[in-house]
Amino acid sequence: MTQALKLQPNDRVLEIGTGSGYQAAILGELVPEVYSIEIVPQLGQRSKTLLARLGYENIQVRIGDGYKGWPDKAPFDAIIVTAAPPRVPQPLLDQLKVGGRMIIPVGEIHQGLILIQRTATGYERRNVLPVRFVPMTGEAQKKANRENP
Ligand SMILES: C[S@@+](CC[C@H](N)C(=O)[O-])C[C@H]1O[C@@H](n2cnc3c(N)ncnc32)[C@H](O)[C@@H]1O
Repeated sequence: MTQALKLQPNDRVLEIGTGSGYQAAILGELVPEVYSIEIVPQLGQRSKTLLARLGYENIQVRIGDGYKGWPDKAPFDAIIVTAAPPRVPQPLLDQLKVGGRMIIPVGEIHQGLILIQRTATGYERRNVLPVRFVPMTGEAQKKANRENP
């Protein structure tokens, strides 16, 4: 997923789903600014403390629902989503720079990893491969339940 983003040395990257902080650390080695959001407070706090202890001053971790992205720090050159929503969250599309890339697993039982690039006129989507991620919880799940009660 990291490779698919074709990161550049000055990119600002948003990650949804901090989890253990491992992916954030990889990103932190490659780009100067990483913003990562985790919905489970204990996980987010643990990874925040760990990454700080390891000296990753360029990674900010926030506890919250990544569905809404991180508007204060947008736009992003790249967004990596590591939990699967049923559909691509509109706020994440909005927070992508023109020319920016997003890699995201999408779907419920059948999921596909999708690479999206924002262009001057819209978004180009490419199916990368079938995958199976944990579901994106929070607003993504509430929205799906409202649409398919
Ligand atoms: C596959 S794990 C992430 C792995 C992580 N990137 C790593 O390197 O360890 C998916 C993570 O997404 C989190 N998650 C699920 N829904 C979320 C949401 N709406 N916002 C933020 N994080 C979410 C889960 O709690 C879980 O920690």
